[in-house]
Amino acid sequence: MNKRILIIGACGQIGTELTLKLREINGENAVVASDIREGNEELMSSGPFEFINAMDYNSILKIIEKYQINEVYLMAAMLSATGEKYPAKAWELNMTSLFNVLNLAKEGKIEKLFWPSSIAVFGPTTPKENTPQETIMEPSTVYGISKQAGERWCEYYFNKFGVDVRSIRYPGIISWKADPGGGTTDYAVEIYHNALLHGKYDSFLSKDTKLPMMYMDDAIDATIKIMDADASTIKVRSSYNLAAMSFTPEEIAIEIKKIVPKFEITYHSDFRQNIADSWPKSIDDSRAREDWGWKHNFNLEKMSKNMIESLHIRYDEM
Ligand SMILES: NC(=O)c1ccc[n+]([C@@H]2O[C@H](COP(=O)([O-])OP(=O)(O)OC[C@H]3O[C@@H](n4cnc5c(N)ncnc54)[C@H](O)[C@@H]3O)[C@@H](O)[C@H]2O)c1
Repeated sequence: MNKRILIIGACGQIGTELTLKLREINGENAVVASDIREGNEELMSSGPFEFINAMDYNSILKIIEKYQINEVYLMAAMLSATGEKYPAKAWELNMTSLFNVLNLAKEGKIEKLFWPSSIAVFGPTTPKENTPQETIMEPSTVYGISKQAGERWCEYYFNKFGVDVRSIRYPGIISWKADPGGGTTDYAVEIYHNALLHGKYDSFLSKDTKLPMMYMDDAIDATIKIMDADASTIKVRSSYNLAAMSFTPEEIAIEIKKIVPKFEITYHSDFRQNIADSWPKSIDDSRAREDWGWKHNFNLEKMSKNMIESLHIRYDEM
């Protein structure tokens, strides 16, 4: 059966590029974008769009029936830094939206579901280097608690009800098409914009804060790959560790300086430092590589070149 895809939260940092890629692969009319707000021009003009509140089960169901959707990607969530400002809202959005789509799958309204988890499921007691797939998980942010609970529910729905839900623990995602939505790793996107626009950046994380990161192209590739994999190869039904690179603000600044020699960085940590300090520095993603053939393509050097070239073109066009 042909894929008929619905993306919820399609106008965010990841949803924008995921929608565009899925439309390129499956045809524009096979992929319905939805959000509570409109997206950028490229997204809105590339195929069907519907307003959907991820908290409202009936409005999701209506669109699923209207377009005969069989796969859903739930990208709507409140991220780590914003979640610390609005803990109750973050919990409500992140859990209600997940239950809505898990229940739609349980009731046979859709066949397959993608829901992203995060490295935020780990906490201060987790081993920090090469963090294993299965390890101590005591997240200290509301966002992390919601993602960990979400993972348990995904596995539960798979075991109890046979729901085909697939998930990845994304690291910090770096991209240039749509702005990031309030996460702790947003500095690694802002730094490129500021390098080009102002030649300097004041980092909200300290110079030696090492975190796992990934370029958007790799994140989209992994998302499509896990959804296309044969169900029998998906052996982890909570969420897979996924990795590409790890670096500090100082290391990314050195890489940017190679392309923008006048670039200067300063450091003034804010509340996001505590969140970053609770997360792993590097991730062991060997299970994703073994089970469904995950392979990353971008390292820090290749990503920096691509980001700066792409942003140059974008700013020249403005
Ligand atoms: N970006 C990252 O670095 C990163 C890292 C780890 C995990 N993730 C996860 O990936 C997913 C997508 O993240 P993102 O960075 O694109 O987030 P984002 O904040 O950029 O986008 C989220 C989108 O959801 C929409 N939204 C919010 N409330 C909604 C609602 N009630 N109904 C419908 N839409 C709603 C927003 O308008 C926004 O367009 C999230 O689950 C996030 O936790 C992201």
